[in-house]
Amino acid sequence: MNDLSARAARPPYQSYWMPFTANRAFKQNPRLFASAKGMYYETPDGHRVLDGTAGLWCVNAGHGRDRIADAVANQIRTLDYASSFQLGHPIAFECADRVMALAPRGLDHVFFSNSGSEAVDSALKIALAYHRASGNAGRVRLVGRERSYHGVGFGGVSVGGISKHRVAYGNLLPYVDHLPATHDIAHQAYSRGDPEWGAHLADELLRIVNIHDASTIAAVIVEPVAGSTGVLPPPKGYLQRLREICDKHGILLIFDEVITGFGRVGAPFAAQRWGVLPDILTCAKGLTNGTFPMGGTLVSAKVYDTVTEAGTGGPELPHGYTYSGHPVACAAAIATMDIYRDEGLFERAAELSPYWEAAVHSLKGLPHVVDIRNSGLLAAVEFEPVPGKAGHYAQAVHNACFEQGVLARAVGECLVASPPLIIQREEIDRLFATVAECIRKI
Ligand SMILES: Cc1ncc(COP(=O)(O)O)c(C=O)c1O
Repeated sequence: MNDLSARAARPPYQSYWMPFTANRAFKQNPRLFASAKGMYYETPDGHRVLDGTAGLWCVNAGHGRDRIADAVANQIRTLDYASSFQLGHPIAFECADRVMALAPRGLDHVFFSNSGSEAVDSALKIALAYHRASGNAGRVRLVGRERSYHGVGFGGVSVGGISKHRVAYGNLLPYVDHLPATHDIAHQAYSRGDPEWGAHLADELLRIVNIHDASTIAAVIVEPVAGSTGVLPPPKGYLQRLREICDKHGILLIFDEVITGFGRVGAPFAAQRWGVLPDILTCAKGLTNGTFPMGGTLVSAKVYDTVTEAGTGGPELPHGYTYSGHPVACAAAIATMDIYRDEGLFERAAELSPYWEAAVHSLKGLPHVVDIRNSGLLAAVEFEPVPGKAGHYAQAVHNACFEQGVLARAVGECLVASPPLIIQREEIDRLFATVAECIRKI
């Protein structure tokens, strides 16, 4: 048997090492989507599934948008690729202008990458470069938070707060500290929107300042609403307090808005929704409606000017990706932002939020449920843990919902939902009625 036929004789699905997947279990019982339109996925055997997750928190304008498809196809025919290193192409500059038109006032420039992970690692490097350029090369310490997810780059995992992701590799960035998580079920269970309790947890940054001295700390990075660890909205006043402490001690504040950006919380970005301006903001996902890999790191004029003015002729920031500002990604992003604008999807998310909140909180009192949380069009239902069976109820409800044609995601002990912003009220009803039915059954 030659190599090709030996490979062909293997069971299906073996070649692809799938990301964040129990590969062996999946390949015993694969679940595939073959197509998608609007609010629905379709499996190869024609089973329609209501997408309660916007893919992976990214398909904010719904699936299969012709406007994006046409823009991408046209761009490939016009200029498929051109480098952004010491050369340029007009659509990258146009795309940057469009992103900055949505951004909070006070952020002025965007550095493009290909993913949320790259946007985060770019943000951390820019923060370090900023302090060096300011004559503060001793500011090297980065502060993340427990129960945070900042992607899979070494920087993002180092500041991230999911221990499973960290211990798998052992060797991460040095000089990293973590704030405590902002969620505490004993004080916050069933909060609607932002919890009343917990603003004081921002003061833990002062503890880190006291131990290490502010002159060693470069930046603090937080998700305004932590997403992947189960939708943790910020306690009232928490983000404001972090900003105050950072200002007082010359620490840069980074908001990771890979999930919260592009309308998810009823405003273009969480920074606007909570009225707190970070020095650096990361985005990805909804930037292209999930259609094309792209990330962005937005920075203030102070950060950009300090780094670029310190340059001595060559690239001021020795950093960039072959596909930074990829013309096709930019075409997808511009078409996506056109849809958001023309269909008023960010406003729609804000209008739907109270209905969404009421719908998810109607699950209170169902068996095994211990907490329910919501923010914008994000929600989580948390289940009691079962000793020795991590994520037992969340996974069981996810599986049962899938059988009923509804997609909600299991993360840890939580079932999370984050639908496309085009969702209709009847679809919200169906989503949570199915979740409720499946919770009662398991
Ligand atoms: C807050 C946050 N940051 C970063 C990332 C990483 O993004 P990507 O998977 O595009 O690298 C994610 C992904 O879910 C995220 O939720």
